[in-house]
Amino acid sequence: MSDNTAKLTMGDKSWDLKVRPGSIGPDVVDIASLYAQTGCFTYDPGFTSTASCESAITYIDGDEGTLLYRGYPIEQLAEHGDFLESCYLLLYGELPTKAQKDDFVHRVTYHTMIHEQMSRFFTGFRRDAHPMAIMVGTVGALSAFYHDSTDISDPHQRMVASLRMIAKMPTIAAMAYKYHVGQPFVYPRNDLDYASNFLHMCFAVPCEEYKVNPVLARAMDRIFILHADHEQNASTSTVRLAGSSGANPFACIAAGIACLWGPAHGGANEAALNMLSEIGSVDRIPEYIARAKDKNDPFRLMGFGHRVYKNYDPRARIMQKTTHEVLAELGIRDDPLLDVAMELEKIALNDEYFIEKKLYPNIDFYSGITLRALGFPTTMFTVLFALARTVGWIAQWKEMVEDPSQKIGRPRQLYTGAAQRDYLPVSQRR
Ligand code: CMC
Repeated sequence: MSDNTAKLTMGDKSWDLKVRPGSIGPDVVDIASLYAQTGCFTYDPGFTSTASCESAITYIDGDEGTLLYRGYPIEQLAEHGDFLESCYLLLYGELPTKAQKDDFVHRVTYHTMIHEQMSRFFTGFRRDAHPMAIMVGTVGALSAFYHDSTDISDPHQRMVASLRMIAKMPTIAAMAYKYHVGQPFVYPRNDLDYASNFLHMCFAVPCEEYKVNPVLARAMDRIFILHADHEQNASTSTVRLAGSSGANPFACIAAGIACLWGPAHGGANEAALNMLSEIGSVDRIPEYIARAKDKNDPFRLMGFGHRVYKNYDPRARIMQKTTHEVLAELGIRDDPLLDVAMELEKIALNDEYFIEKKLYPNIDFYSGITLRALGFPTTMFTVLFALARTVGWIAQWKEMVEDPSQKIGRPRQLYTGAAQRDYLPVSQRR
């Protein structure tokens, strides 16, 4: 590889491929013309070495444990900023001025109600439906209610759709929760900030006043910041792929929610807490560590490991601090699950298997404990992740739609099935 070309040699032929630098991070070998030049595809299932797009939104250095939104370290945003400011940053590329922030907060706040008829969608679900199933259905259904923001070629409509989704996602998530627990829906309140309004919609009931605890609201807001974007992960790539066909943004976000649901992705926070409950006490940890290391056992320590972070997940560090703040505020001193979590972390971080494979706790390891302390059932955990990640999905979707070189995503394959053969009538088949 020279400074800006890589040489590919196959047999007695060779080709020069352009090498493109990023502003930071690894260069990429541009193989867009490879098939035309060589008749070969590349093969990279799971995209472990493939950059699927060019993006200026989020940067991760997995070896250093760095996460930047538009260049700003996640630690600084979580410590000094708030979620809606991070949303503005992800969408527009810069932190807002005071006037820009006020205007953005106002526009989000005044889009939080959903079309009244949409509430009928919720009642169509079984009471025991998983809230993520409700989210996939109802977010997709937004495209049936907001026709005036589905023309993706119109920049104004794109922005209105973006604001609508950031604004309405907490309302939809809270309604999914209320329906799940059999309580009446609570309407949004415009005098509350984004996180407080969400907690109010989830935990207020009509028969008494509910005062939002500012420490818990700050923790909720921080959880939203930490989950807001994470470059080209599975659900974001799903949103981009769905959007590449020209599908409307509401449908694309519903696709992202479906992908996020899986336990290897957003479903891991729910799975991690279920695992901690299953382990139950500190003395059973060695048994589970042994299972995680056993090649013949499919069990994995949920909340450990990450495709990109091969060092401590920076979000996990902030989340760990937030967990302690929430538990202290609520006066939870003896949480057996927290004891199991702390001990498990200690043992795993000192175990040869986990050290060698660079398996560190990820954000989901701690977020589950915090969300449980805030009062959410485990089935809501991934819903909260979806709520927070919506802005990342939208920012990435917008970036893609606004890229003049954008075309439909259409991966190819290494075909290993039967070669062409002739149809046989059923009487002749053996
Ligand atoms: N427990 C035990 N062993 C593990 C674990 C784990 N949690 N994660 C990976 N390994 C082992 C795995 O068995 C493999 O071993 P070997 O090389 O001997 O076959 C090696 O580590 C590499 O695993 P991999 O599956 O090839 O790694 P990956 O990069 O494809 O997977 C992962 C990343 C996150 C899917 C995986 O670590 C995992 O399943 N973790 C548990 C689920 C989880 O916590 N997911 C949340 C991710 S963070 C939230 C998000 O961004 O969505």
